[in-house]
Amino acid sequence: MSTAKLIYEGQEIELPVVEGSEGEIGIDISRLRRDTGLITLDPGYGNTGSCRSAITFIDGEKGILRYRGYPIEQVANNASFTEVCHLLIHGERPNAGQLDRYRSELTRHTLLHEDMKKFFEGYPPSAHPMAILAAMVASLSTFYPDTPEEMDLNIIRILAKSKTLAAFAYKKSIGQPFIYPRNDLSWTANFLRMMFAVPSETYEVSPVLEEALNLLLILHADHEQNCSTSTMRMVGSSEANLYASISAAICALWGPRHGGANQRVIEMLEGIAAEGGDLERFLSRVRSREVLLMGFGHRVYKNFDPRARLLKAAADRIFDELGIHDPLLDLAKRLEEAALRDEFFIDKKLYPNVDFYSGIIYRAMGIPTEMFTVMFALGRLPGWIAHWKEMREDSSGYRIHRPRQIYTGENLRKFE
Ligand code: CMC
Repeated sequence: MSTAKLIYEGQEIELPVVEGSEGEIGIDISRLRRDTGLITLDPGYGNTGSCRSAITFIDGEKGILRYRGYPIEQVANNASFTEVCHLLIHGERPNAGQLDRYRSELTRHTLLHEDMKKFFEGYPPSAHPMAILAAMVASLSTFYPDTPEEMDLNIIRILAKSKTLAAFAYKKSIGQPFIYPRNDLSWTANFLRMMFAVPSETYEVSPVLEEALNLLLILHADHEQNCSTSTMRMVGSSEANLYASISAAICALWGPRHGGANQRVIEMLEGIAAEGGDLERFLSRVRSREVLLMGFGHRVYKNFDPRARLLKAAADRIFDELGIHDPLLDLAKRLEEAALRDEFFIDKKLYPNVDFYSGIIYRAMGIPTEMFTVMFALGRLPGWIAHWKEMREDSSGYRIHRPRQIYTGENLRKFE
């Protein structure tokens, strides 16, 4: 085993070096404070590995993303979202029999307890659906207590019920009656029907929408230790239950620097269009740090985000198939090109991320802007669950997540 040396005030400390299965190197400092009294300082955790994980691999320099070893491009083109849930949470692709059973379990648990419908009545119509989703997911814990014996069942329940909660939150916001799930439909078709059907009319789920939704959910399904997944692990490390941990992760995702960026991208594009589409003027505001170019930049990717590439290609296909034209898609492409030519973005290695094109596709699908981050949450659920389960089942155990700090406040003084 190789080691790294830290020399501090004449004292030499040897620290073990750990290597991941793709050759990633880390210095193990888990005994540093115990052995030396020192801690490390890393605001924003840009240099900190918080765990070992076998779920998702990212090489940000090369623009690589893999789920359980499978390249995202292959998963996105060949899998269903249900299959990806199984792959991430259980580590392997299900065989045909396992997939059938998994699908029917996910279908069987889609209904909400009837009493939960009453909760929706209390929210104002203007309530943001992310607030409703977070509250409703936490409320599930009051109906389905979290016991070790019921862990797998609770995972199925949340995967199944989340789409019903999301669709009901949308129906509530537009004042339409809830549409109950139908057991003969796939996860994606069921969700689309609960979102868009109305009781007085027949609703046929469009295969184009179903395929688009499947792709979007898969591309959002996991992204290792991002802000919401780290929240999921952190809250879970206190032994809070699955629903409470997911509710916390949903709140973390809501922020505009994370999942909330997809909503902000559309608002930004609409703003640019409303001011006459002057890209140079907008980019100069970015350069002067007045605004961020939403949907650009990433902590890990210093190259193209592979998900953004897939979504850009899919956007053209989906728009063609739906026979619609959205001037915002043209504007987004022009903005991307202009930013990629601009020294500011070249210097800082800022590329489009997953949120740059996802909102434009959701919009084409008829999903309102306020629901975009909810869509992200539905996609990210299997990733959150996989990480929570991996931590809980770690045979070497886990400790409560409890970072330290460098105190910079007042020294001792008297309170008289
Ligand atoms: N527009 C303009 N400048 C930017 C942007 C941007 N979108 N992103 C980063 N920068 C600048 C930043 O100001 C900094 O400049 P300097 O070194 O001169 O101070 C430099 O680039 C490095 O950025 P950073 O803020 O240190 O990077 P970070 O790793 O802390 O933050 C980020 C990553 C995604 C929060 C950030 O790039 C950002 O706010 N992007 C816009 C919001 C967004 O699209 N979020 C979605 C992220 S992908 C999906 C997800 O995880 O939810």
